[in-house]
Amino acid sequence: MKNKELNKAAKRMLDLIDSGTTSMTSEDVAPYYVDIKTYTDNEIFELEKQKLFKERPLLMAFSSDVKDSGDFITNEDTGIPIIITRNKKGTVKAYLNVCRHRGGRLLDKPCGNQSRGFVCPYHAWRYDLDGDLISIYGEETFGEIDRSLHSLIELPVEEKYGLIYVQPTPGPAQSIDDILGKDLGNQMESWTLDSVHLVNRGIFDMPTNWKLAMDTFVEGYHFGPLHPETIALGSYSNVMIYDRYNYNHRLGFPSLTINELKDKPEKDWEAFNHFSWVYFLFPNITFFVNSAFVYLFELYPGKEVGEHLTRFSTYSRFEMKTEEEKDAAQEHFQFIYSVVENEDYWVSANVMKGFKSGLHPYSVFGRNELSLINMHEAFRESVGLDPSGVRLKRSRK
Ligand code: FES
Ligand SMILES: [Fe+2]
Repeated sequence: MKNKELNKAAKRMLDLIDSGTTSMTSEDVAPYYVDIKTYTDNEIFELEKQKLFKERPLLMAFSSDVKDSGDFITNEDTGIPIIITRNKKGTVKAYLNVCRHRGGRLLDKPCGNQSRGFVCPYHAWRYDLDGDLISIYGEETFGEIDRSLHSLIELPVEEKYGLIYVQPTPGPAQSIDDILGKDLGNQMESWTLDSVHLVNRGIFDMPTNWKLAMDTFVEGYHFGPLHPETIALGSYSNVMIYDRYNYNHRLGFPSLTINELKDKPEKDWEAFNHFSWVYFLFPNITFFVNSAFVYLFELYPGKEVGEHLTRFSTYSRFEMKTEEEKDAAQEHFQFIYSVVENEDYWVSANVMKGFKSGLHPYSVFGRNELSLINMHEAFRESVGLDPSGVRLKRSRK
């Protein structure tokens, strides 16, 4: 991202700090009362799994995850087993991870390289990187079939801005530009996701609804109270800038050091050393970026409405050359992992227990939680529900 834009963002944050406030929505919009059924209702959960996690393209990889021909990653988190790979021409492809003979799983590893294509472990049918069936083991005994009818089932996939979006079911799919818009797309491109360096990956499977887990990433109101010994030691609490892009958004969170910029002429600013961006990419991605790292959180519904799975990956934006740099990156990964596990998701799992009681009818989002309001409106609207929150009779006015 260009310095001009980073400086502009830093100035917006400094203005908020100076006036002792944060981004807020209007009094017409908040308080917004969110119906707890959104986290507990089986019907809504089934709708989301179908409409959000099967019928829409989802961010499933960065370009750097499948850099070379034959590199692959697999994903089964939507309930549909998928292979994402790059063919010999350099084009990204996505297939159902299912052999066309009798359904064997072709790849049973999360990632790797298969530059010569895929061989089914069941009866050794072989496919190339374009999904074409190229050999049938013991064909003289199996008999002749039309191979063109037995190519791997292809899924809609698009690579742009260093992002790879896959739609888990065949059929027409929205483009990345439709989903993000050009402005957000260009921002994503500026993070050079085709050349980031994987540090480590981890999993959280906390017993909480996937949206309730997502809620913990979407405001900085909780930094001081929930993270007094970790995040709040370095960041302002309850100060954020907010920008919306269709159903997606970005939040800018200032570090305590941001005030140092005031002592320097703007041309000497290194503004991005003093804040971080947290993007929400609809429906299930939280993407943090700061001057050194990119953190990707992919959230998926679990088996039941009160369960979920998060995949967490940390990437270094720069090549880690020395052992010190590599160790520091691992430490950083562990730090974020433990904050999320012991603080954010700990709280989320406890909130879920309260919601399961069935006795807490709604939660309330304030003016400073506008990102939550917009996100929940998008969740509801995208599955065909009324985006408004619960309408309460006001007792005052
Ligand atoms: S199921 Fe794949 S070769 Fe038989
Ligand atoms: Fe948090």
